[in-house]
Amino acid sequence: MNICMIGAGYVGLVSAACFSEFGWNVTCVDKDPQRLEELNAGKSPIYEPGLDDLLQRNMQAGRLRFTNELGPAAKAADVILLAVGTPMRRGDGYADLSYVYAAVEELAPHIEGFTVIVTKSTVPVGTSREIEERLRAARPDAEFAVCSNPEFLREGSAIGDFMHPDRVLVGVDDDRGRAVMNRLYKPLALRNAPVMFVGRESAELAKYAANAFLAMKISFINEIADLCEVVGAGVQEVASAIGKDRRIGDKFLHPGPGYGGSCFPKDVSALIRTARENKSPVSIIEQVQRVNDERKIAMAHRIEAAAGGSVRGLTVGLLGVTFKPNTDDMRDAPSLTIVPMLQERGATVRVVDPQGRKQADPLLPGVIWCDSALEAAEGADVLVTVTEWNEFRGLDLAAAKARMRGDVLVDLRNVFSAELAHAAGLRYTAVGRKPDESDLAPARAALRAV
Ligand code: NAI
Repeated sequence: MNICMIGAGYVGLVSAACFSEFGWNVTCVDKDPQRLEELNAGKSPIYEPGLDDLLQRNMQAGRLRFTNELGPAAKAADVILLAVGTPMRRGDGYADLSYVYAAVEELAPHIEGFTVIVTKSTVPVGTSREIEERLRAARPDAEFAVCSNPEFLREGSAIGDFMHPDRVLVGVDDDRGRAVMNRLYKPLALRNAPVMFVGRESAELAKYAANAFLAMKISFINEIADLCEVVGAGVQEVASAIGKDRRIGDKFLHPGPGYGGSCFPKDVSALIRTARENKSPVSIIEQVQRVNDERKIAMAHRIEAAAGGSVRGLTVGLLGVTFKPNTDDMRDAPSLTIVPMLQERGATVRVVDPQGRKQADPLLPGVIWCDSALEAAEGADVLVTVTEWNEFRGLDLAAAKARMRGDVLVDLRNVFSAELAHAAGLRYTAVGRKPDESDLAPARAALRAV
């Protein structure tokens, strides 16, 4: 089977490499010359565990190639997948579909023989239909079907997620398109992955509904964490108690500085727009968005409160800036709110992140980059965990304290414990912990600070 993947970002690159691992012949097209140069040298331009090996193996086997020439790849393709970005549109918060429609316009002249065009990008309901209409207008002679095949992989475990998905969702209204998609995913179906065929609108909406639901779980536990602090409960105990109920499930019940990343914020925003436009508002999701925006700001206030009410003239050592561990992705990371707020209030911010520096550098001007957590602690009055990278979990807190000027540890990811912190001579504030597990009632303190 010949596959043309348009877009070599997180989704396009991982999907292209995984499809080629099945033995399919994959050409991945991108416009970014630097990205192509790195890829053609056998190096992944993004950090994703296991991806370098997968790329090299399949490129050497001649099943996977990267190019900026769409024409030949599209002509030869049985399936053309669109994996270009659909970022939040400035101004109205809707999904910016300009990359999708530009790619559709570019591929239209090259359709040859029956071809299935697939939206792997997350696109609002009705986009597949709109793409079909645009292609029909541009190429009344062409034979094609347009399918929706939203991707559910998670950065950081993307290859495992692609190879062992909870489900593969295919929205298709056309028998020939369905047969081709069936063949495309046969290797996964043979490994017992559920491949679900649904209508295109259902597939498109399901992707947004899934992300909005997960975002809602995060905001829910963040608010419960705040309540825990005030009433003397422990959020980890509450989360593990409710998570045992299979109707609730134990995933996405970890409180923290709010959700970020390339998907949840923009997908929540786009779903709200779609719902409003269709006069069927999703008021729960509107609250989720508001709660999350406020959360990031409250976390900066929490750091201030833990520092004694002000960070002016203080040095803050920040562990982790990416929106979650095991990725270099900085899109909508909570650190992008927290760091500038600390700087505006007069703090010097020292930062360490195992993979995030390249992307974060232009986004976080004025920070001091460090190569290790201990270096970030050097001269710091306050140490803050923002992203729970595994290497921070093993941090020798006594060694960190020895390098610090102050003695405050603000643990926004509940990586450490009061016991460990106290043993190292640090005062400790976490998220949603009981009073005996935290040195101040942060929710109250942060509320006062707002
Ligand atoms: P990305 O921004 O990392 O990559 C997009 C790539 O497309 C870039 O390399 C860009 O140069 C390329 N591109 C744009 N227009 C092009 C064109 N006309 N021709 C060739 N290349 C072009 O985006 P990412 O994160 O991979 O997301 C893609 C889509 O997948 C989005 O809709 C996103 O919502 C969705 N998604 C993302 C997930 C993630 O974890 N990042 C997970 C599930 C879905």
